[in-house]
Amino acid sequence: MKKVGVIGAGVMGIGVAHSVAEAGHGVILVDIDTNLLEKAKEEIYNNVRMQFFFNKKEESLSPEEVIDRITTTLDYELLSDVDFIIENVPEIWEIKRDVYNKLDEICPDHCIFAVNTSCISITKIAALTKRPKQVIGTHFMNPVPMKPVIEAIKGFHTSEETINSLKELLATMNKRCVVVNDYPGFVSNRISHLLMNEAAFVVQDGVATPAEVDEIFKECFGHKMGPLETADLIGLDTVMDSLNILYQEYQDVKFRCSPLLKKMVQAGLKGRKSGEGFYQY
Ligand SMILES: NC(=O)c1ccc[n+]([C@@H]2O[C@H](COP(=O)([O-])OP(=O)(O)OC[C@H]3O[C@@H](n4cnc5c(N)ncnc54)[C@H](O)[C@@H]3O)[C@@H](O)[C@H]2O)c1
Repeated sequence: MKKVGVIGAGVMGIGVAHSVAEAGHGVILVDIDTNLLEKAKEEIYNNVRMQFFFNKKEESLSPEEVIDRITTTLDYELLSDVDFIIENVPEIWEIKRDVYNKLDEICPDHCIFAVNTSCISITKIAALTKRPKQVIGTHFMNPVPMKPVIEAIKGFHTSEETINSLKELLATMNKRCVVVNDYPGFVSNRISHLLMNEAAFVVQDGVATPAEVDEIFKECFGHKMGPLETADLIGLDTVMDSLNILYQEYQDVKFRCSPLLKKMVQAGLKGRKSGEGFYQY
């Protein structure tokens, strides 16, 4: 069993901490806000309980056993003996930069850094550390406990050993990965963010309502979720931040964020996590 530091207790951090603890590993869950950490523990407990109730297997850990494996803290020093970091702080370069500068000082030399990012280059993050071979992108899918496959990203210096260690950790979580090379947005978000952004432009231009846009993708194309429902699930602030990164990195106008999306974020409509986005929750 490994000791895993999970950084950030938001949408993704909650799901990652849940899945890692459920696999039997010890988790140190770090955030900058005590209230969010309290909320995270409560949400994980309820999610595991729900899963346990509907889907109990002999080897399943009880909600109490999962929660017992998670230590929540504001203190990065507790990461001094972890084997793995899975980082989930917001998709803002300055925040990630400061976090990696700190992690590289505190975490032991053997520790692997798994970057859960939507778009930021793994090579750029690895360059902040003294261990570029041990830095790998792990683009988990949301909701994490329910998604069996992740997109893993090989930075310029990422070693085969690091890829194998990630695969081993994922296997304990009943997950696997598709390994791709490093360019901003990788495969999934380089493509999916164009779709979500254009869907926002369609609504902005009055072509159709959000429900009509999503209905076309679900009923005509057979997608499980429409692009605007997906944007609400991800968080409209995260979608906007990711588009800004794609735009900066590729210097390509096709990634410019829709003014409607920006306005919604400025107005506090961030999707599911704030109770309202393209839909109300
Ligand atoms: N939301 C998704 O569907 C999704 C999917 C895959 C990857 N991602 C990526 O995962 C990362 C996290 O996204 P999210 O949706 O969970 O964001 P979020 O805004 O829901 O959560 C971010 C959390 O990080 C915390 N935080 C901020 N600064 C911190 C610091 N210095 N140290 C520790 N914690 C800090 C915040 O308090 C918050 O709880 C982003 O890079 C995002 O692009 C998101």
